[in-house]
Amino acid sequence: MFGSLLLGIATLLGVIYVFLVSNYGHWRRRGVTEPRVLPLFGSFPNMVWPRQHFTMDMRDIYMRYRNTHSYVGCFLVRAPKLLILEPRLVYEIYVSAFKHFEDNDASKMIDINKDRLVALNPFVLEGEEWRRQRAVFSTLLTNGRIRTTHAIMQRVCRDLCEFICRKSVGGMDLDGIDLGLRFTGESLFDCVLGIQARAFSENPLPVVRQNQEMSAENMGLAIAGAVCGLFPNLPRRLRPKVFPRSHDEFYGALISEALQLRRSKNQERNDFINHLLEMQRDLDLTEEDMASHVMTFMFDGLDTTSNSIAQCLLLLGRNPDCQQRLFEELQKSNPGGDLPDLDALIDLPYLSACFNESLRIYPAGGWSSKTCTKAYELRGSHHAEPLKLRPGDNLMIPVYALHNDPEFYPEPDIFRPERFLDGGLKNFKQQGVFLGFGNGPRQCVGMRLGLAMAKAALAAIVQRFEVLVSPRTLDGTEIDPVIFVGVHKGGIWLQFVPRNI
Ligand code: HEM
Ligand SMILES: *[C@@H]1O[C@H](CO)[C@@H](O)[C@H](O)[C@H]1NC(C)=O
Repeated sequence: MFGSLLLGIATLLGVIYVFLVSNYGHWRRRGVTEPRVLPLFGSFPNMVWPRQHFTMDMRDIYMRYRNTHSYVGCFLVRAPKLLILEPRLVYEIYVSAFKHFEDNDASKMIDINKDRLVALNPFVLEGEEWRRQRAVFSTLLTNGRIRTTHAIMQRVCRDLCEFICRKSVGGMDLDGIDLGLRFTGESLFDCVLGIQARAFSENPLPVVRQNQEMSAENMGLAIAGAVCGLFPNLPRRLRPKVFPRSHDEFYGALISEALQLRRSKNQERNDFINHLLEMQRDLDLTEEDMASHVMTFMFDGLDTTSNSIAQCLLLLGRNPDCQQRLFEELQKSNPGGDLPDLDALIDLPYLSACFNESLRIYPAGGWSSKTCTKAYELRGSHHAEPLKLRPGDNLMIPVYALHNDPEFYPEPDIFRPERFLDGGLKNFKQQGVFLGFGNGPRQCVGMRLGLAMAKAALAAIVQRFEVLVSPRTLDGTEIDPVIFVGVHKGGIWLQFVPRNI
């Protein structure tokens, strides 16, 4: 009796073990080196047991192999992934050979029939549907329409500075991430829906709380990631729902109300919601479709922009010389430090360089995945034979490792905006070593809006306050191991001293 129980358990463990390792060797059989891989943990053990962010595992492999290999074969839990190490190939995959690598992997994690709020989000769509919806979404983001949001952002900048004044009396620490989230949430909701969420007041709309929860909510994505790693070929209908139902209901109702309101007021403003209503007529969109377009701004634009603001403030706080140089640039363009003129901000080189350098040190996604959609021969300089890629093969791009490679960015931990002056960005992008907004046809479609928001907030703050870093903020630039999108570990605590101008 006891013996057969033991035998049963042993057999079960054996079956699980065989299941877990059954894909290992996939790359070796195709002539590709496989770094060490552990059952259940795959090649990136910190994905499963996070002591450091798993993009650091990727960086470790990158640093070990990049001088001798153009790519190596890895496993995300069980799923085979080709880790690209040679920057020239990165550029090829994003830009020059894009038509062979049109999809990224997010579509594998999400069933858009269950998560309707992302149903039209270009980031999770593939093939023809991606092309169509990306074209539709980008008509929302013309220069003209972004310009109409400038007045809104100025209003939000004013509220932001008043909030900082109120909250930071006596040198109190403020939470930079929270500050960024309030600023970005307030801007996006007003720009997109015409709703003032009152994120800086004592009685904000419930959406402010909901945004904070959405930003902190990692569980759905973690589970979806784990399922995807264990069962890479799971049919779509068996995949779990990623975003909680409460979330769908809340944002669905809010958006529906905002659309109603705008229709009834019949305002003619050349803004995003106006354009959405026009699109509804022309493209015959359901209200669900409209909600999905609105949520693309929130899902893809909220955390990315707010973290980038907080991280840039942190780096400016640690580098007073850079902050001073930025302050002088801002003063010259807008003496007196009144509300930032957003048109003028676009052209300020040092502000732009500070932002890009901060995005280099803290890229929003420390890695990126691409799927081969059409057969391709990958020719790495370190390999005699090309690697024949087949549709369905998955590639990973170690964005964090590329951004922090001392060969391209000497002393990569040091914040040095000058790297980006004099055409630095263009060179870095062409070399395949800067991917702050991605590159090529799938590059971030909200880039100009994200830049406009981030620069407005940074300019408003730096011109009114001297930014200092609280001793409570951890030293170094380590990324929080358990947060999916990269963000400084331990929180960003800042102090603001009003300037006398
Ligand atoms: C500073 C803020 C932002 C950063 C750092 C950022 C970064 C990125 C990155 C790295 C990608 C992936 C590109 C690739 O796969 O090659 C991306 C894609 C995307 N972003 Fe952003 N983003 C920001 C703001 C925004 C905003 C405000 C919006 C919405 C208006 C937005 C909408 C999107 C969309 C829809 C995609 C998917 C594009 C596609 O696959 O065709 N992003 N972003
Ligand atoms: C910073 O990046 C943005 C977006 O990629 C680009 O438009 C701008 O020219 C860059 N600025 C500098 C100084 O590198």
